Amino acid sequence: MKENSLLLKTIRKETVERPPVWLMRQAGRILPEYKEIRSKIEDFKTLVKSPALAAEVTLQPIDILKVDAAILFSDILVIPEAMGLNYEMIEARGPLFPKTIQSKEDIQNLLTGEEAADKLDYVYETINEINKNLPENIPLIGFAGAPWTILAYMIEGKGSKTFSVAKKFLYAEPENAHFLLKKITDSTISYLKNQVKAGVQTIQLFDSWAGLLSMDQFSTFSLPYIKEIKEAIPEIPFTIFAKGAMLQLEEISALNPKVIGIDWNISAEKVRQILGNDVVVQGNMDPCLLYSSPEYIYRITTNMCNGFGKNHIANLGHGVYPDTSLEGVKAFISAVKDYSYYN
Ligand code: CP3
Repeated sequence: MKENSLLLKTIRKETVERPPVWLMRQAGRILPEYKEIRSKIEDFKTLVKSPALAAEVTLQPIDILKVDAAILFSDILVIPEAMGLNYEMIEARGPLFPKTIQSKEDIQNLLTGEEAADKLDYVYETINEINKNLPENIPLIGFAGAPWTILAYMIEGKGSKTFSVAKKFLYAEPENAHFLLKKITDSTISYLKNQVKAGVQTIQLFDSWAGLLSMDQFSTFSLPYIKEIKEAIPEIPFTIFAKGAMLQLEEISALNPKVIGIDWNISAEKVRQILGNDVVVQGNMDPCLLYSSPEYIYRITTNMCNGFGKNHIANLGHGVYPDTSLEGVKAFISAVKDYSYYN
């Protein structure tokens, strides 16, 4: 039963021997077995839209790294595409939107809600495929991008250090910004509901660019929409990961998600001072730690587990970097698997 998995027991705050462990971006960044599949396919989007292969890539970290959870192989950018804004994934550079949102009319023309979510049948099919082969004790994590992070790509059109075009849009056209955020929110709710129906056991919302916003902007343009999505999906446990917004942990916690994602800019001790010991948190190792020696990784990871104590899901503070050695990844995973709350 999935319900008896270490991850779901931890989320329910039942007694467990050790924290569960998985890595953000574990599917598709580090394994040679992924690179092999990827090299036979012309582009990333084709892989995302091929349920059998996407399922295989999702299962690879379970078989090879023996992590405690699987995360669906897909991308947060399938939502803008389903709404009508096409993206390309440029090799070694990242996403590019040939057209961006330029006017209120552009926002009006976007599909939303179920109409958008219905375009993502290939994702629901991938979930079905994964569940045919996922071990009984391993849950599947579904996900989506948080509305601000999705808006950032739809306005900026590509990755950026500052996302200043998207931030300018929030300041200069707040009404249009709210109009677009609402449409993204409604599409995301329908999409996540469909993921739940297809068979994911828990959901993570990635607000990857939360840290670019001022506190006031985060409270105005990001959190209310995260709240709306979280409240619309009461069926399964919900994780909010707002990277860079650790000074607003209390506001995030007030939304009462089952799990709060923690980035590496804050210590475990500080997190516990702010949230207490009773909140389930996920994180927060610096992905760059995994470039160091296995012995050092093992020691620092054990310290992290000590620091958080119970009610903790071991993970990195952001996605694993593509050039991380497997040896480093394995040292991180073993340290957590060898850990025990009872000795
Ligand atoms: O966690 C997983 O392993 C599941 C799959 C997953 C992907 N993207 C696959 C992917 C997940 C959860 C994502 C989420 C995602 N995508 C986020 C939020 C998480 C985060 O890291 O902050 C963001 C911001 C994106 C947007 C995106 N997709 C970017 C900026 C890029 C290019 C850089 C990179 O490699 O991440 C992608 C491409 C992408 N998404 C790849 C993969 C495996 C690499 C594409 C390739 O193989 O060519």
